[in-house]
Amino acid sequence: MAKQKVVVTGGAGYIGSHTVVALHEAGFSPVIFDNFSNSKPEVLDGIARIIGEKPQIFEVDCRSKAELAQAIEACASDGQIAGVIHFAAFKAVGESTERPLDYFDNNIGSTVSLLEAMTAAGISNLVFSSSCTVYGQPDAIPVDEQAPILPAESPYGYTKQACERLITDAFNSSMPLSACLLRYFNPIGAHPSAAIGELPLGHPNNLIPYLTQATAGKRGPLTVFGNDYPTEDGTCIRDYIHVMDLARAHVASIHWLLSNPASCEAFNLGTGEGKSVSQVIAAFEKANGIAVPYSFGPRRAGDVTAIFANAGKAERALGWKCELSLEEALRDAWKWQQKLTEG
Ligand SMILES: NC(=O)c1ccc[n+]([C@@H]2O[C@H](COP(=O)([O-])OP(=O)(O)OC[C@H]3O[C@@H](n4cnc5c(N)ncnc54)[C@H](O)[C@@H]3O)[C@@H](O)[C@H]2O)c1
Repeated sequence: MAKQKVVVTGGAGYIGSHTVVALHEAGFSPVIFDNFSNSKPEVLDGIARIIGEKPQIFEVDCRSKAELAQAIEACASDGQIAGVIHFAAFKAVGESTERPLDYFDNNIGSTVSLLEAMTAAGISNLVFSSSCTVYGQPDAIPVDEQAPILPAESPYGYTKQACERLITDAFNSSMPLSACLLRYFNPIGAHPSAAIGELPLGHPNNLIPYLTQATAGKRGPLTVFGNDYPTEDGTCIRDYIHVMDLARAHVASIHWLLSNPASCEAFNLGTGEGKSVSQVIAAFEKANGIAVPYSFGPRRAGDVTAIFANAGKAERALGWKCELSLEEALRDAWKWQQKLTEG
């Protein structure tokens, strides 16, 4: 029997490329829609090294309904499409405050176009990449999906809230749609083969890419933003999830959508454990036997003190939970950085 296809928008990006691998391993045929605005075609060679073949790819701008319609039609001509996983978006919080219109246009515009193209093609299953930023600084942690959505701190955060809203509104209308809104906590690490990972385009805003680049001597020492937060060691607490665990959650979501038609649910994807920045640095040093150059600096605007997931709903409904440790994620992140350093 022919494998079912899954369209992966943004599939050449960091989380998308790992999900393409996980989909292939689960017996699906992933098809990438990407315009390489934040990735490189070489990612496909990395995927091929792991799965033994280059995935099907369409160079598509997901804001364009016409390009999406054409690619979906070509894709559906020789196989059934089980659903779409929509990663394609811009993701830099800081940049979104400088270029809000680009973020609204790309992140919200692509989601509107995709929903229209899916409806026209009769595809109803959608997995959407959301973020724990929708919760802001929650009153209670671990945070579950019932926690209120707080006013967004950045245009980026707003686009995630707006897309969740528009997908939910579309679901509540007469549109034939089923959706998983996946709220990621902090994805880190890389495929253990180091054939794919997070591509450092520009100045990293996230802890791990900055930490690995600083440790590799590619940048100056890491600045830890604030050690006067009301946490045990004064640094912020986050929930770091191995990108391969996150990738598997997307496969589980596709299976869930296939057996739960006409459903729309949000799921937190995290480990359920909070780790402080100082704990992560210590864990990285222990896991890799190397010192991290760092110093403490002032707090960074917009950072919440502590957030980690209650991921019980995902475990119950999707049958998914994290299997990989923080140490494994940090080892894989360092392996990937060393590969990048070697060129
Ligand atoms: N990485 C994180 O920490 C994190 C956390 C929470 C949510 N997310 C969300 O997960 C998704 C994937 O994140 P990532 O870290 O893999 O990002 P990424 O930038 O590595 O990947 C995004 C991919 O989408 C592509 N893309 C962007 N706009 C496009 C468009 N209009 N048409 C076609 N392709 C387009 C880019 O070229 C890139 O390959 C994003 O929606 C992001 O907001 C990421």
